[in-house]
Amino acid sequence: MPTSTPPRSVEPDRIATIAVRAGQPRQDAFDAVTTPIACTATYAFSSSAELRDHFEGRITRDEYGRYGNPTVRAAEQKLAALDAPRASGGATDAVLFGSGMAAITSALFALLKQGDHVILPGEGYRRTRAFVTSLLARFGVTSTVVPAGDAEALARAIEPRTRVILTESPTNPYLRVVDLPALAAAKRRHPRVKLLVDATFATPVNQRPLEQGADLVLHSCTKYLGGHNDLLAGVVCGDEALVSLVREARDVLGGVLDPHAAYLLLRGLKTLPLRVERQNVTALGIARWLETQPGVERVYYPGLASHPDHAVAKRVLSGAGGVVSFVLRADLDTTARALDACRLATIAPSLGGVETLIEQVALMSYYGLAAEERAAIGIADGLVRLSVGLEDPTDIRDDLARVLEVVRAATKRVDAALEVDAAARVDAAARVDAALEVNAATKRVDAALEVDAAAREHLARDAAAQAGEAAKEPRHAV
Ligand SMILES: Cc1ncc(COP(=O)(O)O)c(C=O)c1O
Repeated sequence: MPTSTPPRSVEPDRIATIAVRAGQPRQDAFDAVTTPIACTATYAFSSSAELRDHFEGRITRDEYGRYGNPTVRAAEQKLAALDAPRASGGATDAVLFGSGMAAITSALFALLKQGDHVILPGEGYRRTRAFVTSLLARFGVTSTVVPAGDAEALARAIEPRTRVILTESPTNPYLRVVDLPALAAAKRRHPRVKLLVDATFATPVNQRPLEQGADLVLHSCTKYLGGHNDLLAGVVCGDEALVSLVREARDVLGGVLDPHAAYLLLRGLKTLPLRVERQNVTALGIARWLETQPGVERVYYPGLASHPDHAVAKRVLSGAGGVVSFVLRADLDTTARALDACRLATIAPSLGGVETLIEQVALMSYYGLAAEERAAIGIADGLVRLSVGLEDPTDIRDDLARVLEVVRAATKRVDAALEVDAAARVDAAARVDAALEVNAATKRVDAALEVDAAAREHLARDAAAQAGEAAKEPRHAV
């Protein structure tokens, strides 16, 4: 691929320009304006001498598809530029994978060995936690899970054998925001501990964790970075030496990104700032509106003053993101029926794309857990996660109004049933009262009759006595 003209220089602070221009040579193959897809599994050497030059580091070129690809490399350079700390202009690199999970698992394999210890927050992507607590545990890596959003608890859990703190921010699904600068400051006292931040929900538009003291930042590019729900990818960004360790792990583990997906990712990244800025605005508007709705018990969005991490979010994020979580005043089945009423939002896992996606968390991300297990980890039956897309905000809100209408109708039916029940209770109580009254009256009559019978008996006895006395008196002769 010709790279005779150096890459166009990019102003370090202007994210929109970085998104479009970084990682793209000024003059690409065939004079194309866009990056071509290098669809090849392997690369030809002109001679054995060139092979030697390659292995002995005298030239830089590609060798085999698992070790690198020009289209993938262009996307890596763009991602590195987007996440680079702006102030230092430091040597940030990035390595791409075939999915977010491939990025996370490869990074952890690269940094950990038997006997090491990892700290994780209790809230976050379920598969990441499962990888650490189940799979890595089989290789002798121990872990401590601490409450989400608590930077102090994360720092306090550091042990002599701790090598990695891995946190998301904002977290899934309650969007807890970690005070990364505070956590990084605490971690600095332990030079062997690396801070890894899964910033999938934030994106480099809303937060650059490397700037706030993280050692490596990870993203599922499947979400906002790709942005169109049409690819799976994952990336690890950070200082060159650390990223090269992760790259070596990828070369062995093999979770590479296909060049076609890398092309889609490059294309998606060009509009990342535009999309995320719009999603920030739409989500905030929706979150505020949801807070006014009687069918909604609670809204979780870091941009709202009611969110437990609002103050931290104001300090560490420049936008609160496109995901809004909320709890409906509804049980499991009513919530499911309510989401079925959506005509615009698509019921699907994932987030961050141009299409608005909606999911009932208990039935999607946490399907398979019993009701008590869900309750134990705070997943309410009525919890809904909404990822706002790029549709008109009014249409998204109208769609949610359909959801809320189902909740309202169900609540009305329950209220009506309760009213009928209450009326029936009043009626039954009145009937009991009436029966008791009849009973008491009967008793009174019976008592009166008893008195009456006694009196009659008494009178009869008196009469009989009088008659006896009269008989004893002499009869007068007529
Ligand atoms: C925060 C977070 N990290 C990582 C992943 C895994 O990414 P992928 O699905 O691309 O493997 C996900 C997936 O939902 C996620 O939400």
